[in-house]
Order: sequence, then structure tokens, then C-alpha cells
Amino acid sequence: TKRFAVIGHPVAHSLSPRIHATFGKQRGISLEYTTIDAAPEQLEATLEAFAAGGGSGVNITLPHKQRAAELCSELTERARRCGAANTLTRGADGWLGDNTDGLGLVRDLTERHGQDLRGRKVLLIGAGGAARGVAPALLDAGIKSLFIVNRTPSRTDALADALGEPARVHPRNFEDLGNLGGFDLIVNATSAAREAALPFLPSSLVAPRADAVDLSYGEVAIPFMAWARAAGADIVVDGLGMLVEQAAEAFLRWHGVRPDTSAVYNELRASYA
Ligand code: ATR
Repeated sequence: TKRFAVIGHPVAHSLSPRIHATFGKQRGISLEYTTIDAAPEQLEATLEAFAAGGGSGVNITLPHKQRAAELCSELTERARRCGAANTLTRGADGWLGDNTDGLGLVRDLTERHGQDLRGRKVLLIGAGGAARGVAPALLDAGIKSLFIVNRTPSRTDALADALGEPARVHPRNFEDLGNLGGFDLIVNATSAAREAALPFLPSSLVAPRADAVDLSYGEVAIPFMAWARAAGADIVVDGLGMLVEQAAEAFLRWHGVRPDTSAVYNELRASYA
């Protein structure tokens, strides 16, 4: 039985063990998947200990995604471009880091919600680990432009630089939001709602038939989703679909087979209306 874990801080409420266990049952693969709570200064030692104990793969969640990328001996092109890793696979010489968050988001929007992302003008709010994880996949999905705003402008600029596509990627300030026109897709990648402090967003940001997605789920996603609906957005989703899809991408890398995500998604959706 291969061993896997999700490392975060906090991590106790992570749905990943349940998702991977269900995938394993579905595909007849026996696996062990646990949660490991590690403070930032313990991440490196925790990864080493897990590998020494025979661990095969690790998912990384808040707040470790950027540090985890630095600790990998090898990164996929995607993980390198966003400077954040959420899926680590143990190799002979260390950890191989990948990032499946963005693919997960794109699959959720295109396959579950039937959206075509090509040609879209996209607003990304936030420039932390979550924003970094999804930005490259959005660009790869053929969007027209990616505007990024973040409370701390230096992080906006750092992310825009890392993406290396100045023709399509535009760092902006929150104060500019009233002058940017409407967007076809708005992605909330901040943890602001957790602090009940969603920055002010003018409803002019929502173009006709625009979609909106909050990368979190549960109560913290409610304020942004309510704002998007009130501003006239068409499809408004939380990050639950992305969570299940990124897990499926990790499962595919680790076990060589793609699980079916709809049953797990529907089951979880019932508890996170
Ligand atoms: P994550 O991995 O979830 O992105 P993070 O790296 O801590 O976690 O980033 C959190 C994001 O939420 C950042 O974009 C952060 O903005 P800063 O870079 O300025 O810190 C944003 N954020 C958190 N609280 C916020 C608030 N009250 N108002 C606006 N943005 C906030």
C-alpha cells in the first residue's frame, strides 16, 4: 500500500483524504492518505520524514505552496512558472513538484460548467499561493488577457513577472478597478473573506454573461459569490469543483489512472450547498 498525505497548517478539515480514498475504492487501488499539520518552519523536516517513512506523494495546501516549490529537487514547467506546488511525487533524488490547481479550475469551468475560456478577459484578485497556482493554466486555456490586482502591489508585480507574458498579463491596483471595464471571468483568489474584509469591487467589473469563481468553498466563499450574483454574473461557483479536479489530476500522476470525479463532487456538494 502506497502512502500519501496532505500537509497544511491548519489541515484537520481537509477533504483530500476523503476524496483520494473514494478515488482509490473506485479504481480498486489500495492507498493510505493522511493529514499532517506542520507549521511553516517544520515543512522541510516534515517532507523529509515522510519520505524516509516510505511516503510516495504529498499534496500541499495553505500556507505552504510557495515554500514547497522551493524545497523540490525538480519542478514541472507549470509549477516553475507559478512558483507554487500542490502535488509532490517522491523520486530517487527528492521531490518532483507539480501544480494541478490551475488544471483543476479549468476542468471544473470547462467540463463541469460547460464554459469556453478562450478569448476571455479575466480578472484575478489576489497574488498569493492560490492565485499563482491558477494563473498559468488560465493563460494556457487561451484567455485573451489576465488582469491581476492584489492588496500588496509588489506581489502583483512579482506574479506578473513570473508569468512572463507581458502582452497578455496586466498588473493593476485596486484603485484602478473602476476604469478597467467589464470582465468575462472574475476569479477571487484572496483569503480576504476569511477575515470578513472583501475589498470593495464595483459591479461594473461584471460584463454581460460573465462567470465568477471563488477558489475557496463553504462559508468563506459566500460574500464574493453574493457580490457576483448581485452584480449580474451568469455562472457563479465556489472552489469545490476545482478541489475535486486538482485531486483527480494528482491521482492520475500517482496511480496512472484518471478517476471519475462526478460522484465525489455530488456527494461533497450536498454538504457544501
Ligand atoms: P493563498 O495561498 O490562499 O493565496 P496567501 O499566499 O496568504 O494565501 O494569499 C492570500 C491572498 O489574499 C493574498 O493575495 C492577500 O493579499 P496580500 O498579498 O496583500 O497579503 C489576500 N488578502 C488576504 N487578506 C486580505 C484583505 N483583508 N484584503 C485584501 N486582500 C487580502
